[in-house]
Amino acid sequence: MTAPFGRGTRIAGTGRALPAEVVTNADLEKIVDTSDEWIVQRTGIRARHRAAEADTVFSLGRDALLKALDRAGVRADQLDMIIVATVSGEMLCPSTAARISEAVGAGEAAVFDLAAACSGFLYGLNLADTMIRCGRAERVAIIGVEVLTRLVDWNDRTVSIIFGDGAGAAVVVADPDPRKGCVHQTMHGDGRMWRTLYHPKCDRDVPAGDEANPIRLGHLRMHGREIYKFAVTRFQEAIQDALDRTGLKVGDVQQYICHQSNQRIIESAVEKLKLPPERVYVNIDRYGNTSAASIPICLDELYEAGRIEAGKPIILVAFGAGVTWASCVWNP
Ligand code: COA
Repeated sequence: MTAPFGRGTRIAGTGRALPAEVVTNADLEKIVDTSDEWIVQRTGIRARHRAAEADTVFSLGRDALLKALDRAGVRADQLDMIIVATVSGEMLCPSTAARISEAVGAGEAAVFDLAAACSGFLYGLNLADTMIRCGRAERVAIIGVEVLTRLVDWNDRTVSIIFGDGAGAAVVVADPDPRKGCVHQTMHGDGRMWRTLYHPKCDRDVPAGDEANPIRLGHLRMHGREIYKFAVTRFQEAIQDALDRTGLKVGDVQQYICHQSNQRIIESAVEKLKLPPERVYVNIDRYGNTSAASIPICLDELYEAGRIEAGKPIILVAFGAGVTWASCVWNP
């Protein structure tokens, strides 16, 4: 299947940056009433990275982008656009993308942040592909980066066990072959479900009915069960739709890259759609849920390991707060 327009796109390079500190489940056992066994069974998570005082969305995003540029052989001043997918940036104004642009020397590239939570990187990748395909840009950098551990109440065991910090980046460039790059994409949202995961800063942010929520203002509030049910359904639908719309068979896909939210959510899609488990990438055990950074970290690890071959499609799917969800069938 070929996407519209006369040219395609290519991921020229990827990179990732993780804070040095690793918090294991055993460390969490010392803070809240939980156990390694419960966390592993319910989520698949064994450890996550946590930002130190000096680590920021800006610094992690910058470092991931510098690696991606280096691997891509692209100079920062050749970029036309920098998209930073994040919901945990230090400042809303200016965008984190603007500060990263200055730090890497990207000159007059367009810069903006994209708040689609865990779907943010895929939203950005889909936008970048479309901009390049239709000739409005030649080289676009997409960075997915979060320090969600700063937004978490470490005494709230339902949320603190899940999230980790990190950054991943990709540099996407034009390719003369229109069969390359994104050949199918979807981006969706359902604002009626925003209350399932939100970050209230003051009283007026709190939705009616949730005033008695024991989690303090300034921390993430999550209704895990509701998100779980939504995610299981959407993951399966998004992958099935991607296969149907491209005419691909399950075995034609070399890698399924799912947002790393919960291993059980990924496994339910594997079982239902009979995906070959060895082609479904999982690294949640080492990183937890890094939200917008999760998919680009997976991509970077796969490219680094030489596990993404040219000419064989990959399918990427994500869901997140908002709620949002997105998919992409990519021909490397
Ligand atoms: N350690 C031990 N027990 C815990 C616990 C923890 N960290 N967190 C919750 N529990 C307890 C609950 O209190 C509950 O106890 P009870 O039965 O005595 O009331 C029991 O475990 C089951 O809780 P429940 O919330 O139903 O667990 P779950 O199987 O749904 O797992 C999540 C909880 C959060 C792991 C799961 O719902 C999930 O992953 N949801 C999706 C979250 C997500 O992806 N968020 C990000 C969106 S991108």
